[in-house]
Amino acid sequence: MRPGPWACPLDTGAALLAGPGTRRYLNHVAAQVAVIEGDGIGREVIPAAITVIRQLGLGLEFQPVNVGAERYLQTGEALPEDDFAQLEAADAILLGAIGDPRITDSRYSWQTLGRIRRELDLYANVRPARLLCGRLSPLRDPGPRAADIIVVRENTEGLYSRMGGRFKPGTPEEMAIQEHVSTFRGVTRILGYAFSTARSSVVLADKWQAMPHAGALWQRCWRDARDAHPDVPARHMSIDACALHMIAEPWQFDVIVTENCFGDILSDIAGGLIGGVGMAPSASINAATGRALFEPVHGSAPDIAGTGTANPAAAILSGALMLRHLGFAAEAAAVEAATAAALEAGECTADAGGSLSTREAAVAIAWRLG
Ligand code: IPM
Ligand code: MG
Repeated sequence: MRPGPWACPLDTGAALLAGPGTRRYLNHVAAQVAVIEGDGIGREVIPAAITVIRQLGLGLEFQPVNVGAERYLQTGEALPEDDFAQLEAADAILLGAIGDPRITDSRYSWQTLGRIRRELDLYANVRPARLLCGRLSPLRDPGPRAADIIVVRENTEGLYSRMGGRFKPGTPEEMAIQEHVSTFRGVTRILGYAFSTARSSVVLADKWQAMPHAGALWQRCWRDARDAHPDVPARHMSIDACALHMIAEPWQFDVIVTENCFGDILSDIAGGLIGGVGMAPSASINAATGRALFEPVHGSAPDIAGTGTANPAAAILSGALMLRHLGFAAEAAAVEAATAAALEAGECTADAGGSLSTREAAVAIAWRLG
């Protein structure tokens, strides 16, 4: 990564900072984007997203990084050090999906996607879910404010610590322990990120009754965060009630902040409210270092991989989040508007009510960018 300070690339709305950790560029310095297409439909939706971004003519440099199941099966190496160094040096990482039915060992995702999130300390997993087109809502009467939710998921600890173990595996006495880990530093910084991202309110979703130790730490940090942001309306909800209310009354939510595994689940619910995970983008950010990874919420979808039918919207909208992070706020908004317009016109893939291929759906968006 290059050292700051950064100047604004354009004298338009690009000057507006998008959120904590946002970086800005001199217009003569191209940002380096490391690109991992990964597995399954990642190999289709990422080229589609790049088609759209290139249309903007920003001169970003896309550097392919060959991480994926094919290479892992051939070499046994998930993410070689040279490639990791390239990811570390990039200004942003754009990733399609990791996951292949031929690999049943959970270490594959732990050593690739998990490693990038963990070792680059990308602690804030930001998953915005905004209904771009009324037709895509599964609700009977979504109303004008159907869903515009940002799930802020703690991305480095919680149930994803992989701590624990198995005792007497394979026997009738087998015992398994899977630990949840929350740290004062980890909880404090994700709550701080959530408050700084809020447009109107913050909900903390947890399960303190069943997880009293972690719950007490989250509550302590929650009190501090609320005190530090007295102007932001804040509520505490149980994760189960939160899941229900997201579906029954999605309009009541702005930012929902929660631990890693709960956030994984809630972000799929949020995706369901806007037309499925094929519509849902995400960013994993470290606000202090500016390092960031952008990826659709969906996985590699091996059942449709190679058919050219995957919805590229989630990857394209992840690209828009990346543009905003790199300082191109006006361009990011243009990509989002073009995506909404293409959906509204039915120029999209079948899951969103259209009949276009992945590539054609991307071209329909790129075309609207002029
Ligand atoms: C996600 C995915 C990942 C996660 C998997 C692939 C490990 O479901 O990004 O939501 O659980 O974080
Ligand atoms: Mg998930």
